[in-house]
This record gives sequence, C-alpha cells and structure tokens, in this order.
Amino acid sequence: MQHSDICIAGAGIIGLSLALELHHRGARITVLEQAMPLGEASTAAAGMLAAADPDNPPALRPLSDLSISLYPSYLTRLRDLSGLEVPLHTSRALQALPEHMAETSAVLSADALRQILPQLTPGNRRFVLLDEHSLDPRQLATALLAAVRATTIELRTQTKFLSAKSSGDAVEIQTAAGTVHASQFVDCTGAWSTQTAPKKGQMLAVALPASLPLATVVRTPDIYIVPRAAGPKPTRAIIGATVEDAGFDKTVHPADIARLKAQATSLLPQLADATLLESWAGLRPVTADHLPLLGATPSRTNHFIAAGHYRNGILLAPATAHVMAQLLTGETPAISLSPYSPSRVL
Ligand code: GLY
Repeated sequence: MQHSDICIAGAGIIGLSLALELHHRGARITVLEQAMPLGEASTAAAGMLAAADPDNPPALRPLSDLSISLYPSYLTRLRDLSGLEVPLHTSRALQALPEHMAETSAVLSADALRQILPQLTPGNRRFVLLDEHSLDPRQLATALLAAVRATTIELRTQTKFLSAKSSGDAVEIQTAAGTVHASQFVDCTGAWSTQTAPKKGQMLAVALPASLPLATVVRTPDIYIVPRAAGPKPTRAIIGATVEDAGFDKTVHPADIARLKAQATSLLPQLADATLLESWAGLRPVTADHLPLLGATPSRTNHFIAAGHYRNGILLAPATAHVMAQLLTGETPAISLSPYSPSRVL
C-alpha cells in the first residue's frame, strides 16, 4: 500500500507551489490532478502581481506583501530546478482609483500622467503610479511544471479526487483511479473545491500597434491592459476581464470580447486598430468575502485547505506555499492566518 506524507488535490499554481515547498522541506508528496496540470485559472490569469490594487480586500494585504517579498526566491528555485527563467514583463502600473476612494497626494497631475503615458485618455479618472510587476502565467506554468518534474514529487494527472476521510493518524483519499493513503491531505482544487465557487473571466490578447509602445500596466476598477514583452519591446497586450457567475461554463462570447476591447480603447485610443490574437475564459475560485481559505479544515483531522484565491492566485502562490508548508510541518506561520481561517465558512 502506497503512503505519502502529504497528498495534495489540485495541480494548479497553488497545489504545485505548495508541493515544491513541502518537497524542499523533505516531505514525500503526491499530487492528484483531475485533468492536466496548470490547465485552468493558473494559465488563464493576466499575471499582475497587484498587491496594492485598491479593489483587493484590505485583509489580503499581509499575505500579498509576504508573497511579493518571496517572489524572487520562488522564481530562483523554479529556475534552479527547471533551468527556465521566468521574466518579469512590466515593473509599474497606472491604477485608476475607485470613485469612492478619498483623494490622496499620490494622485498624478495631468502633466505627470502625460509624461508617463502620453497615449492615455484618463477622462475624469484619478490615476496613481504603482511599483508593481507582472509576469506571463504561461511562462510561469512551464517553469513550475518542469521544476516539479525535476523532483521526486509524484504527480498523477487524469486522476480525479473524490473524497478524503480521516482515520487515526492518516487520511484515506479516494480518487477515480484508486485509494491514496497519506499522513495529511490538502485541498488545492481551486474553483473545484466544495468550499469555493467559480467566477468566470473572459479576456483577450491583442497585437500592440507601433503607435502604442506600451510598457506600463493600465488598470481601472473595470478593465486592465497588461503589456507583454516578448523581446526588448512589448508586442502584445492582455485585456481583461469579465467577472461572471456562469458555473463551469468557459464559453467565450465575441460580444463580450468586443466590449472589453472597446473599454480598453476608451483609455488607449490606439488600441482601436489592434489585431485580436486570442481570446479565452478562466474560472477564478471565489469565496463570499474574496479572501482565500488557508488552514486546517475544522473537525477533520489532518485535513487542510488552500483555495479561494479569486483574482490573485499568481500573486499569492509563493506566500500560500510558504505559510501552508509552515502549518503542515508544525511551524508558526510567518503571518497571522486568522483572516483566512477556513472556520469562517466551514
Ligand atoms: N487577476 C485578474 C483577473 O481576475 O481578472
């Protein structure tokens, strides 16, 4: 009978980042994935490390800040294991403040805004400039999967997690392809967790016209435009995203894509001529308060959850892996996890 120290359900960015962190600490890990690794929200994301987005719940900030501080070592570990560098594509973001937010001294004057991005038509929006990086989640996924495959982590694809039952010091995990025994179990199934719901996001990629050499993320409460630099110059931009309750439906509707592009064009008129390269939809795992669930599942021994990262899974992966690994190995987590306690919903 096979026995792992820790069995993780879900091979998205959260599950695989946690697997790597636990492996680094010497644990034997099995990861169960119902389809293909990193095939859902992890690669649908825009990749903004938006720790200071004013639309994030304030209680997300300590976890976000911890993640930002861990990102360099996280990427170094991926590079050391995979041989693949994950480049940062942008290093600043123009953020429009939500209407309800009070005026701050950081709000840019029209002149300052023109100097940063002359093509922007801000309307009556108030913009601030954030030190914020972005990366391409597809490049991150390639490096993360190669890193995992360079270790002894057992990754079982096409193996759907069905249930986990605590018995004594162990957990018995039922899958569509048999039983796994482990000392501890972690639910990292994202939008497929019974404790979260899917929130659909449709988005698109466009080729940037030569008249718009965009190197800065532009974000309002309704829309974001994220340039991707394939070489020294940005050549494409990601535009997103809808926020919809549509169950597990990932249909892309041309009318929604056209509306997103029109919204982006109202900010950057040069996008009117931008060629559509791709469009897709992803399913964000959401909770009622938009905060993740991190910790032990109440009244289920050796059973944990790390899910519900909603719009910030890419940002929060390193910190989630770090604090969950601390929790699973009996250390005190680096930050208080009480705002993220699963007992608030379970
Ligand atoms: N993280 C971007 C989005 O949720 O659309």
